[in-house]
Order: sequence, then C-alpha cells, then structure tokens
Amino acid sequence: MAHQEQLQRIGILTGGGECPGLNAAIRAVVRRAFLMNAEVLGIKNGWQGLIQGDVEPLTRYSVTGILPRGGTILGTSRFNPLQDQETLQQLKENWEKYGLDGLVVIGGEGTLTCALEMWRDHKLPLVGLPKTIDNDLCGTDFTFGFDTAVGVVTDAVDRLHSTAESHHRVMVIEVMGRHTGWIAAYGGIAGGADIVLVPEHPFRFSRVCELLLKRQEQGRAFSIVIVAEDAHPHEEENFLGAEESRDIYQHDRLGGIGAILGREIERCTKIETRVTKLGYVQRGGSPTAFDRVLATRFGIKAFDMIAAREWGYMAALRGTQIISVPLEEAVGNIKHLDEEIYKAAEVFFV
Ligand code: F6P
Repeated sequence: MAHQEQLQRIGILTGGGECPGLNAAIRAVVRRAFLMNAEVLGIKNGWQGLIQGDVEPLTRYSVTGILPRGGTILGTSRFNPLQDQETLQQLKENWEKYGLDGLVVIGGEGTLTCALEMWRDHKLPLVGLPKTIDNDLCGTDFTFGFDTAVGVVTDAVDRLHSTAESHHRVMVIEVMGRHTGWIAAYGGIAGGADIVLVPEHPFRFSRVCELLLKRQEQGRAFSIVIVAEDAHPHEEENFLGAEESRDIYQHDRLGGIGAILGREIERCTKIETRVTKLGYVQRGGSPTAFDRVLATRFGIKAFDMIAAREWGYMAALRGTQIISVPLEEAVGNIKHLDEEIYKAAEVFFV
C-alpha cells in the first residue's frame, strides 16, 4: 500500500439520515487505523462539526461496544458546507488546524455529492463510504442499512398479516425508499405482499382494485398492499388532488400516499381497509449481521483507500467483492429498482 506509513491523522464523519451499520463502519475505520498507528478524529454532526470545530479523537475505548448499536455515535446532519464562501473557508482553516491527512465521508447521495465536489473543486483529500436504507446509490450492489430496513418491513408485514387475516381487511403498508422501490420490493417479496407499488412503475388504480376484488372472489378475504413513499398513480388514472400531490411528493419529505390510497381502495372495493406507515422505525435499531459485515468491510476498505491516496473514490460492493469506484459513478444518478426484482414481486400479484 503506497505511502501508508506517512498517515498520521484522519477524520471521519457521518452525514444525511442515520441508518443501521454506521457505528459498525466507524468502529472498523478506527480499528484498522489503530493497526496502522494512525489517529482518527471523529467529526460531529456531518460537515457541520468541521465548520464548528465540534470534533473528538476516537480512541479504542470510544468504539468499544458500538458494533450492534443503531444510529451514529458521531451524530449526523444534512448541513451543506458549500453553501457559501465563508463556510468553506472555515472548513479549510479547521482542516489545517486539526492536521488531517484525509477524511472518510460516510453518507448517502446528498452527502457523497457534496464530498465529490469537495474533492473535485477544492481538493479536499477524502474517500466515500455508501450508507442508506434506500439502496439507491449507484456503483455499489448494496449499501449498508438496507438489509436491516428490509428486515423491519418483513417483520411488520408478518405481523400485519395477522390482523388482515383475522378481520378480512386490506392492509396498506407505506414504506420508505426515497425515489426507488428497493425496500418495497424486497420487503414485499420477503413478507409475501399481494401487491407492491413502486416509483419505477406508476400504478393503475383500477388494476389495484381489480386484483383485490379478484382475491376476494377467490376466497382470500384479506390482502397486503405495500406502497413505496414515492409511488405514483399512472397519469391516466390519477386520483390525487393537486394539493395532496404537493404534500406527498416533497423531495425532502416524502410520505402520505398510503393513507390516501387506503381511503380510495376502501371507497372503490368496499373492503374494509387499514393503513400503516412504517416511517422511521425502518431506520432504527440494531443492524443485521449482513449490514454489520458489509459496514465493517467498507470501513476497512475506506482506511486502506486513504492509505493508498485513492482520493475521490468510494468503497463499493460488486458481487461478493469490496472494490473502490470513483464518486462520480455513485452520485448524479440514482440506482433504480432492478427490473428482475420487480418481476419477482409481480408474480404474486394475484
Ligand atoms: O434516505 C433515507 C430516508 O429515510 C428516506 O427513505 C426518506 O425519504 C428520508 O430519508 C427521510 O428523511 P428525513 O430524515 O430528513 O425525514
């Protein structure tokens, strides 16, 4: 590994929405750095900590016991350090003050887009590490946090089956995923949903009602519908008012399609319908073994990328291998739900 022996101190921050596995990744970076005799400075609350000087050296003790913990011991924010020249200047001054040789930026699309700009336009030596429950980052097969979120959805769908079945109801379950249907489709397949609605496939409301009535005719008196927070009705069958649409599809705060869909399903099919919005429980709690392992492998890779001065790159999973990809490959576009996965969910829409 080139130049590895010269590394003295690196920084680490977590930005954007928290997700399970962040602490596992932080721990891995710190433990790997210690092996190489490098110090790690924890930067609090995303980029904001670097501006405000809110930092804390991470010792072996500070990362003890954090592997199974949800959230992030560093705190997080959606603070944008590129908002003005003054903020940027402050960041550069603090970078010098803390004597950082490199930075690990753990984030989703927003945080990593900012990281790319920081490297490309301001030559801040950094590497990226992909996290998000949404699994919508390009360049990597999976982000950590996703598997845990799918586990939460699966457990919820299993539980909601009980009430749907006992009361002969339709249960509409709204899940997260931003502009993609990864969580909805995986949760739907794993939980045995009867209909899964995703942003990638605008849905025809008449077809949804048809399927539900058909199930009823076949003697299956309950149904489970999973709807992703950014799923849209097909424009030819849009049942949302302009105001409702504005409320539901806010770029930074999606949510609400489930309630209206449930109301419309009951009106159209006359089948008693209930709605559950899973919301932030999908992001909370202890990471699954898969997410712990992935986050740990990413953390180790991130340190090794810093040691090799692979600036502007991101750790990624490709097949079973951990590789590095240019940040350009990860941001700019989002990774939409794989069509094959959607088709697998669709097999059960009857
Ligand atoms: O990106 C993760 C995510 O949980 C999305 O699924 C959701 O749309 C969004 O974050 C919610 O963000 P916030 O924490 O700002 O409400």
